[in-house]
Parts: sequence; structure tokens; C-alpha cells
Amino acid sequence: MAKNPRHPRWSLQDIPFDRIECAAIAEENDWFYLLAGASFVETLSDLYARNLAEYYGSNLEAQSWLREQWEQEEVQHGRALRAYVLAVWPDFNWEAAYARFVAEYGPLCQTESLGPTPALEMAARCVVETGTASFYTMIQQASPEPVLRELAARIRADEVQHYKYFYRFFREYQTRERISRWRILRGLWQRAAEADLEDSFLAIRCAFELRNPGQTFTPNDFRAFRKRLSVWIRRHYPFEMAIKMLMKPVALPPMLQRLLLPLLMRGARRAVT
Ligand SMILES: [Fe+2]
Ligand SMILES: [Fe+2]
Repeated sequence: MAKNPRHPRWSLQDIPFDRIECAAIAEENDWFYLLAGASFVETLSDLYARNLAEYYGSNLEAQSWLREQWEQEEVQHGRALRAYVLAVWPDFNWEAAYARFVAEYGPLCQTESLGPTPALEMAARCVVETGTASFYTMIQQASPEPVLRELAARIRADEVQHYKYFYRFFREYQTRERISRWRILRGLWQRAAEADLEDSFLAIRCAFELRNPGQTFTPNDFRAFRKRLSVWIRRHYPFEMAIKMLMKPVALPPMLQRLLLPLLMRGARRAVT
């Protein structure tokens, strides 16, 4: 695969943070928690990249892509979201909340939890990138503020590229491992079910508790938060794109995929709304 000439392909200077229409978003608490939480998860990518590069230690191409491109771009997503959050909510102590997130979530990120095979881990990474590409598509569509729309569009484009790289690495491993469709599907299902919950909950809890000293953010608060988000999800989540990306590693025959797609979309909509 041809290497891109410059990584990351954009920089924080490309985002007009000084033109943010703060009044359009500053009163919206759910936006604050969503963006602060996303900034923590993205910023911690150096740890995920280190773990993944270690796991794929014998694959020099994957290793160098992970450290030189993927990690740089993901960490930049975190820096850009942090800058956005601090431009709109300047009183938030981002460093302290992030330090708490690292202390709580860092120990859960272990190389041993990767796998169980190199191909299945690459497929699982496709699930994660599908999740982020869809998430930023939703943010782009739902945002009441133009600079956030622009930032989300740039991040989304990176996430789609990441998916393509992970998918290509998956195909390479799969030609050797020849894992059955059923096993891939089971792996994807498991990862999609876990995705997003543990790290999102912790990230939002850290943002909430730093912003509201003395208050605790409970799993019930998280459920209520997700329920409020379901309105945006229903309206703006790119279900069709997400399911097509998720199913690609399973490589169903095209006819079957065409038949299944509407059913899966209906099921996914029902599951999240
Ligand atoms: Fe990202
Ligand atoms: Fe990504």
C-alpha cells in the first residue's frame, strides 16, 4: 500500500478554534461530556499503539504503521478535541480529569487482552475503527456548531483510513490463518458488544466528577446519558455504513449480504434506540 506523504495529514493549525461559536454549544452538558470523554480515549492511543505494536512485534510493516501513523493521528485527535473542549469550556481542568482516566483505565489495557489470533485482533481493530468512523459521522451531522462539524469531518476521514489499513492487515493474516466466517463473526460480535462501554463510562465519569466535585457518576447516570444520546443516534448514526464496514471481514457472499443488510440495520437501530 502506498504510503501517505505526510502524517498526520492535517494539524491543529488547520482548525479555526478562534472562530468557534461558543454560544451554540457551551450550555449543552451532553456535548461537553461526549467531547471531553472522546478526548481522553483518543489521547490514550499512545498506550494502545504500544500494546498493539508489541503484539505484532514480528510484523515490521504493521509495527511501523502503528507507531508512525496510526498513533500520531489518534493522539492528534485527542489534542484537537482537548483544544476544542478548552476553547468552549475554559474552566474545565482537563489535565486532572485525564490523569484520573489514565490511572483508572490504563491498567485495564494489557497486551494479554489482545488476540486471540493476529487475524482476529486485526478484525477487532476494524470494529473499533468502524465505531469511531461512525461516531464522528454522527458528531458531524448532529453538531450545532460549525467548527466542531469541521473537526469531526477531519477525524472521521482519518478513522476511515485506519479501518482500511487494519482491514488490509486482517486480509494478510487471514490468508494464513483461514479462520472460519462463524469464528470471525463471533469475535466481531464480542468486540462490538464490549466496545465503547468500559472506556466511555470511565472517560465520562472522570469528566463528570472533576467538573462536579463531591458528586459521583453512577452506571445509572451513564444509562440515562446514553438514553439521551439515542435521539441523536436515531437521527444521525450512519447505520448502513457501520454495518457494511463491520461485515466486511466476514466476507459473506454478496447475495447473502444484500439480503441480510436491511435486517441487520433494523436490529441495530432497535438495539441502540
Ligand atoms: Fe481517533
Ligand atoms: Fe482510528
